[in-house]
Amino acid sequence: MCRCQQSTPHNQVRSGRSRTMNDSDSDDDVPQLSASTLAALQEFYAETNEQVTPEQKFSVGAVEEDWRMSQFWYSDDTARRLAEEVVQAAGEGGRIACLSAPSVYQKLKQLDANTQVTLLEFDRRFSIYGDEFVFYDYSNPLCLPENMAPQSFDVVIADPPYLSHECLSKVALTTKFLTKGKVLLCTGAIMQEDAEKLLGLKMCSFLPKHTHNLANEFRCYVNYPSGLDS
Ligand SMILES: C[S@@+](CC[C@H](N)C(=O)[O-])C[C@H]1O[C@@H](n2cnc3c(N)ncnc32)[C@H](O)[C@@H]1O
Repeated sequence: MCRCQQSTPHNQVRSGRSRTMNDSDSDDDVPQLSASTLAALQEFYAETNEQVTPEQKFSVGAVEEDWRMSQFWYSDDTARRLAEEVVQAAGEGGRIACLSAPSVYQKLKQLDANTQVTLLEFDRRFSIYGDEFVFYDYSNPLCLPENMAPQSFDVVIADPPYLSHECLSKVALTTKFLTKGKVLLCTGAIMQEDAEKLLGLKMCSFLPKHTHNLANEFRCYVNYPSGLDS
């Protein structure tokens, strides 16, 4: 159950490819597998999973970009730079919230720094990361798990899906709820005024890069002295 008392977020998407396998023994509409087929399949997945190293599981791009969800992944270098920045900002043993920024979450896991990381994301494919994944839809900015206490993260890094006042206003509500103070926002240069007004953020000199070139100029904004200006 989340804070907004909705048991099921209304705007769910299932973005994984669905598999349909027919079992001729079943009259049910729901596709069924025979016990022996299921056992073989489970064995196959168990073997496959054993071969997935943490480096692969958390590699930037492990989940393919889907433009329908406005997904544009950072380059590996940018993900690393941002991850190192939030580790520095959070401090030893600090808590970091990655809001719609899965590549930074993945890089933080690869770096294996002494921090606690939570990924708040709309794309349920990232639920492969277990308890560290929290479903998040910016349209319901405070629809967060009840056990997520206010101001419980040392730093929040956010990369909203849309370059609009409406989207950034809502993401700002979530960010203010979650952070103890520090915020790192990555968004278009055209959002500079809103970033300042809504969250008191200043543009950094660092230029984030993406795996595919974007038409819009992208920038980082912070409200604390950061390494992204040096
Ligand atoms: C511009 S991308 C930012 C990703 C970032 N550059 C990275 O590499 O991690 C926008 C992100 O917002 C997520 N998103 C899409 N729709 C959303 C929604 N309704 N609420 C919250 N996040 C959403 C996407 O899945 C994606 O991770």
